[in-house]
Amino acid sequence: MKILLRTLLIVPLALAAAQAVAADYTIKFSHVVTPHTPKGQAADLFAKLVDERTNGRVKVEVFPNSQLYNDNKVLEAMRLSGSKTTGIMAAPSLSKFVKFSKTLQTFDLPYLFNDVNDVHKLVDSPLMSRLTTGLDKKGLRALTVWDNGMKVFSIKADKPLKNVPADFNGMKFRIQSSNIAASMIKNLGGTPQKLPFKEVYTALGQGVVDGQENAWSNVYSKKFFEVQDYISVSNHSYLGYLVVVSDEFWSNLPTDIRNTVTAALQEATQANRKYAAAADSGDRQKIESDKYAKVVDMTTAERAAWRKATAPVWAEFRDEIGGELIDDVNKLLGR
Ligand code: SIN
Repeated sequence: MKILLRTLLIVPLALAAAQAVAADYTIKFSHVVTPHTPKGQAADLFAKLVDERTNGRVKVEVFPNSQLYNDNKVLEAMRLSGSKTTGIMAAPSLSKFVKFSKTLQTFDLPYLFNDVNDVHKLVDSPLMSRLTTGLDKKGLRALTVWDNGMKVFSIKADKPLKNVPADFNGMKFRIQSSNIAASMIKNLGGTPQKLPFKEVYTALGQGVVDGQENAWSNVYSKKFFEVQDYISVSNHSYLGYLVVVSDEFWSNLPTDIRNTVTAALQEATQANRKYAAAADSGDRQKIESDKYAKVVDMTTAERAAWRKATAPVWAEFRDEIGGELIDDVNKLLGR
């Protein structure tokens, strides 16, 4: 009897264990932010949905906080991974595709978007496939865009921020690997320095750079605001992510699995937009109610002065991105 009971207990456990390791495909989802940010939440939801909808045939393992790769390394790893059963997926910021796409630089143009609604207009339009064109030839399959939010500038300064471009004189700013961001900082009178995301807090704290640009959720979750004096609500550009996977892995997935994973990703994308909207206002409030950085809103006149100071960036990158594409984007956005 005892033996029978033990067998009855052991067999289901063994079956469950077998099921747990029975995934046919593994997706390693690597990102650089914390799990409770809009990207982290969306990645976790995606993993859960895929597990449920494929009955465990596809397992998504999420690696937050640059645990697996930083954003620059992950794209190389994705391109080089020849595996048909283990795919690397990531959602690097759109600014980090500069080595692989000239057209995606459009997203970095200062003051292209008034707000995230403008971004959705573009991302949900047929123009998006023109913006991501050619990535598959470089081994990257573009799947969807996830939001973080509009960017603000944070800065450590002895004197009060006036919210004018002159605030940037003699100041060094950490930027992502975007040439447009570099040009924008120079046009504002500052010095850009490209650094990986995981080095930003230390660089700000040790004075390697004076400031940085980012969305509220990153300023809050990575505690940048604790080592900065002012935050200028410039909303000068957008921080969003292109979700990408190794093209070889993706093309080799059976159609039913690919469709299920795509549907899960679409659902995660809709959820991400909600997470991002909540973080945008929630994390700003948390920063404002803390004792560290002072938040300075921007008047319409101040915004116009910044827009004017950064306008030469558009002319500088027009040919590289493609004038016709820029014109079509402007037309879509009603400019
Ligand atoms: C991220 O949100 O993934 C990182 C953005 C950055 O590098 O500033």
